[in-house]
Amino acid sequence: MNWKKSFLVSIISFTFLTALAMGCNKVQETPTPQPTGPQLTETAQIAYIGNEACQACHTDTFNNVTHTKHFSAFKPLSDYPLDKPLTSVTIFDAANTEKPTSTTLDLSQAKVYGVMMDDYIIAEIPAAAGFKEKIYRVGALKKVDDKWTVEAPKQNDIDKDGKPDWTAEKFTCGKCHAPGIEKASPTVGISCESCHGPAGNHASATDKKGTMSLETAKNSCLDCHKSDPTKDAQGNFTASNHYGTRNFFASKHAQSSQLNQCLTCHSAHKANASGALLVADKPTDICVKCHAGKTFDLEKLMWKNPTDPNAHFTKDHSFGAIKYEDLQDDAATKPIEIKNPTVIELIKKLLPDLAK
Ligand code: HEC
Ligand code: HEC
Ligand code: HEC
Ligand code: HEC
Ligand code: HEC
Ligand code: HEC
Repeated sequence: MNWKKSFLVSIISFTFLTALAMGCNKVQETPTPQPTGPQLTETAQIAYIGNEACQACHTDTFNNVTHTKHFSAFKPLSDYPLDKPLTSVTIFDAANTEKPTSTTLDLSQAKVYGVMMDDYIIAEIPAAAGFKEKIYRVGALKKVDDKWTVEAPKQNDIDKDGKPDWTAEKFTCGKCHAPGIEKASPTVGISCESCHGPAGNHASATDKKGTMSLETAKNSCLDCHKSDPTKDAQGNFTASNHYGTRNFFASKHAQSSQLNQCLTCHSAHKANASGALLVADKPTDICVKCHAGKTFDLEKLMWKNPTDPNAHFTKDHSFGAIKYEDLQDDAATKPIEIKNPTVIELIKKLLPDLAK
């Protein structure tokens, strides 16, 4: 997305919103009292305008954000030097378990949104192919030396001919990894507006006061990072391994008004010397601000799942309230089971939804 194009988008949304605002004025002139309807429509219509629209006015923030992992979680396929030109592949629909359905997709012509986490190629399947969904993980990238090879994202014998098929999975990861796709934003990956909300009104407003809410941004982290335990139909509890903040709800930090939630330790825009979104280069330098004289062993305190099938790096954020050793997990099996009644009681107390 270049500047010109996003500028055009802003103009279009500006014109559109102005028209909308004029429409609302007319509504107010009529004597019939209006319920909340028109306001609701207006909120729903605020356009997403993409990162580049913020760049000219918020240059420093923009430059900082481009060095964070949020920014690189979803990148254009053109960022990856490929070992050979893109070709056509025959893809089976993993979302259609009843009837084996395949299509031939020319990756050089297809609508490719980009690459998620340097791994999955996300693209749209044309409706004519008869796939159940629209957006799929159609390929995977593997790095060999300094070039990338396009491979199947998954292999399964879908047509039962004894040979593994190139299988496309429905793209269920977008809410957190590519929120801009669903929101029709010019930036498909994690953008300024993924945390701040749509800025169409803000960018075009003459008086910008009150057009963006910092509360929205502060509360956005857990939209994507909530990593609470889950309970299955049999009532068994397991710890969650994705999203990076396992058991934050149980920490004294989450309950204390002295903390500014995630932003006590994490920065929203600026990565530290090691490229992490932390407010200090050395993580323990953050802790001593409030815990003077205490030394924490963060490797132990923020435990990682020893048995995760996908080697997720999620660090426990309960800060000692829920220790791995306390869970009574069977380390020989992949999920982390939570069997200790005391821990289950704590979970039910703090997350009443799971007590049902
Ligand atoms: C035309 C210039 C312009 C553009 C484009 C623009 N902003 Fe702003 N923004 C401003 C100005 C000026 C302010 C300061 C307003 C004030 O004084 O309260 C501001 C303030 C903000 C604030 C802080 C609000 C507060 O309450 O402190 C946020 C957040 C913000 N902008 C986000 C964005 C995002 C995200 C984008 C792009 C999607 C964007 N802005 C695009 C000019 C712009
Ligand atoms: C990961 C979420 C996230 C992303 C991505 C993000 N912001 Fe923010 N932003 C925040 C939070 C949270 C705050 C409030 C910080 C605070 O309260 O101290 C904030 C504050 C701001 C402010 C107010 C001044 C300041 O720096 O505190 C501006 C302006 C702003 N952001 C613009 C942007 C722009 C422009 C982008 C994209 C280039 C962007 N933000 C990307 C979460 C985010
Ligand atoms: C739209 C979803 C989304 C939102 C909102 C979001 N994150 Fe993230 N965050 C991610 C994803 C996805 C990754 C993994 C990125 C990667 O490793 O490339 C990530 C990675 C991180 C990391 C680890 C990598 C690093 O840069 O240090 C931290 C810390 C983090 N987020 C903090 C925050 C905070 C704080 C907020 C709120 C201000 C926030 N995130 C809001 C999706 C989100
Ligand atoms: C609810 C939000 C959310 C959804 C849905 C989601 N992720 Fe993530 N993902 C994150 C966040 C946040 C991170 C960074 C922190 C972490 O890994 O714990 C992340 C990290 C990752 C990572 C890198 C680190 C790791 O843990 O291996 C991969 C790979 C990944 N996600 C793949 C996926 C795939 C594939 C899907 C869809 C099947 C998916 N994610 C769905 C939020 C999400
Ligand atoms: C802004 C202040 C602040 C910062 C920064 C902070 N904490 Fe805390 N921490 C608190 C408060 C307040 C409590 C709750 C104290 C209580 O209720 O007993 C707490 C409780 C704890 C506890 C549980 C009780 C205890 O004292 O052992 C641990 C462990 C802990 N913090 C570790 C950390 C670590 C590790 C860091 C750095 C990564 C950190 N904290 C950063 C304020 C902070
Ligand atoms: C008391 C400080 C503190 C608070 C509060 C805190 N974190 Fe962290 N977080 C850390 C530290 C320390 C690390 C590990 C950094 C490292 O080792 O580089 C970390 C790591 C992470 C990671 C990296 C993924 C991983 O597993 O390594 C993510 C994502 C993250 N935090 C998100 C959040 C979010 C979202 C919140 C708010 C819900 C939050 N954190 C609250 C201190 C904190």
